[in-house]
Amino acid sequence: MQIFIATCINNFTILLMMSARNISLQMALLLVAISFYCVADGLENGLARTPPMGWMPFERFRCMTDCARFPRDCISETLIKRTAELLISGGYAAVGYQYVIIDDCWMEASRDETTHELLPSLERFPTGMSSLGDYIHSLGLKFGLYHDIGEKTCMFRGPGAARHFDLDAQTFANWGVDYVKMDGCYASDADLDRGYPAFGRALNRTGRPIVYSCSWPFYKSQTTQ
Ligand SMILES: *[C@@H]1O[C@H](CO)[C@@H](O)[C@H](O)[C@H]1NC(C)=O
Repeated sequence: MQIFIATCINNFTILLMMSARNISLQMALLLVAISFYCVADGLENGLARTPPMGWMPFERFRCMTDCARFPRDCISETLIKRTAELLISGGYAAVGYQYVIIDDCWMEASRDETTHELLPSLERFPTGMSSLGDYIHSLGLKFGLYHDIGEKTCMFRGPGAARHFDLDAQTFANWGVDYVKMDGCYASDADLDRGYPAFGRALNRTGRPIVYSCSWPFYKSQTTQ
């Protein structure tokens, strides 16, 4: 049911943007009613009662994977730890920016051949996601990771979650992940509509409370991004 909240907030936001230029009172009331309906219908698992706040690298660091040329700016555990420390020292954490979320481009290009688990880039995350999660938690912050519901991730084109929902949800739970940004590239409309709720149930089955951030229905009728 947490999925309903995400969908409704997405639809609500889109509706609001569409009508913002000339919004009538009736429309405004309808939107408020929709948002109440959705929230009332949502899962109460204690998470995302207010909009989750934190930091994601994408707008600044994109998919920089070349640490030889750009050691400070590549998507790596050095960058993530440095930023987590800045959230504390800069006073951001104190006003609520608590999620440190790694966007696309953290993975190896393929899954583990034997276990089929997702693998963090060995070069850029040499100590692994579990220990990075521990470090982020030791600062009192929360740990988020990017994934994609389809065949491949949007930018890096690393392995998507397709056919591995339970395995990936459990891997994230094992790593101490608190937030999943689930992107929607390389999936058909039917896969999106089936996949987003199904991955939500897979997250729930892990027993770990994890915020589920869905890029849904944004990617509908777009076969890639
Ligand atoms: C799983 O879902 C149930 C409701 O369906 C909810 O009460 C519970 O808090 C959820 N657990 C997690 C870990 O999200």
